[in-house]
Amino acid sequence: MTLVIYAAYAYTAYAAQASRPWVHTTARVWPRRLIWGSVGCTIAAGAYNIRRIMRPVSIVGIGQVPIQKKYDLSLRELGAAVTHQALTHAGTDRVDALFVGNMLSDELQGQKHLAALVADEAGLYGVEALQVRAATATGAAALRVAYLAVASGQANLAAAVGVEKMNEGAGPTAALAKALDAHYEVNTGATLISKNAELMRLYRRQFNVPEDGFVNFAVNAHDNARHNANALFRKRVTAHTVKNSRVIQEPLRLMDCSPICDGAAAVLLAPRSEAHTYTSQPVHILASSVATDRFRMADRSNPLLLEAARLSAQKAFHQANITQGDINLFEVHDAFSIMACLLLEAVGFAPEGAGWRLAAEGQIGPQGRFPIATMGGLKARGHPIGATALYQTCEIVLQLTGTAGKNQVPHAQVGLMQSVGGAATTVITHIFGV
Ligand code: COA
Repeated sequence: MTLVIYAAYAYTAYAAQASRPWVHTTARVWPRRLIWGSVGCTIAAGAYNIRRIMRPVSIVGIGQVPIQKKYDLSLRELGAAVTHQALTHAGTDRVDALFVGNMLSDELQGQKHLAALVADEAGLYGVEALQVRAATATGAAALRVAYLAVASGQANLAAAVGVEKMNEGAGPTAALAKALDAHYEVNTGATLISKNAELMRLYRRQFNVPEDGFVNFAVNAHDNARHNANALFRKRVTAHTVKNSRVIQEPLRLMDCSPICDGAAAVLLAPRSEAHTYTSQPVHILASSVATDRFRMADRSNPLLLEAARLSAQKAFHQANITQGDINLFEVHDAFSIMACLLLEAVGFAPEGAGWRLAAEGQIGPQGRFPIATMGGLKARGHPIGATALYQTCEIVLQLTGTAGKNQVPHAQVGLMQSVGGAATTVITHIFGV
């Protein structure tokens, strides 16, 4: 390929020179042209090669354990269990690479180097095994790296595994806060809860949202979690319960927050061209993208516009060659109800200041126009950080293969997933399709 481009360039340069015989600088011009021509050709060939070697990727196996408040099983046991489930689901017992998402194990369990530990426990001796992190978007980061490994041809079968045990050690709140700026934010007492409370206060004031404006986010999530065997909270909650739940940090109430919990989930990826070797119902990854915002909310001109979410979604829509109108369901990062609301706006499902109305008007249920948190979401299925996006991915696979049971979104063909790192500093978007 390089040779073809270079020959074309050389011929054009030669022809141009030949048509201008009055320029007698050929001897000086050609060496320069040779150098720039080579550089140009190398870049062009590189870009061509990257496009050529990036191949479509599919999900061919899934594994998840029920989320619990606290597991007695160790991180390695949980990680190995869901890895085996995903492999078994695909009818294989090998992978080339394993990417493990976990945010807190070195803080809470005193364990680093988790990917190699999970690989060892799973009996996958010798494979590539790397831990991947992006604060509270860690699970999606593991999925993205596994996707890139298969897309680039570095691996043929790659597992993305998420595992987290939050209810151990010194407690999760301070450890989670480390997703923020240690010097300028954490030192002044900020946590993810305080940042989301700040966003909710600002939003309610700016858009005049009534006190019960957000309650349906929790009502919908808990409703959907009832039929998800892997969800932490499987009981319906009423709007009254949500509205009167205890205040965690004004105006955030208990029912606006995702819980502290333990869990693990995994997906197995293969090239799309080989997906049918492993499953009759592969789900394809149509896009994977990441964007970042100014690190601190205080540095953003309008903290209510989640720029990383908007950019990451735009990139993903472009990659998948679709618009938000093509999305049938959205596994949203509803770690806090305000975050679900702002993400609905950032990806374009509602204009600024109107995201809460989708919930208030009952449009976010499985039968609604904008189904979100279809199996309980972070709010009610649970949010064991490093595992969360892998649970979301498994749920989207169930939806797109028509096996989501009572929570099935009718005719679901395309699913969107977003994962938020820190105070919406890093946002990772994936789009899946069948
Ligand atoms: N939603 C509904 N119920 C919840 C809940 C939640 N988010 N969190 C806890 N509960 C329930 C418990 O099940 C328990 O019920 P029970 O008495 O019937 O067993 C009760 O509330 C007390 O639980 P406890 O664990 O003592 O609550 P807590 O006050 O210690 O924790 C929060 C509540 C909201 C502070 C905690 O869940 C939290 O920190 N959430 C945010 C986590 C976070 O920041 N994640 C990262 C986001 S990106």
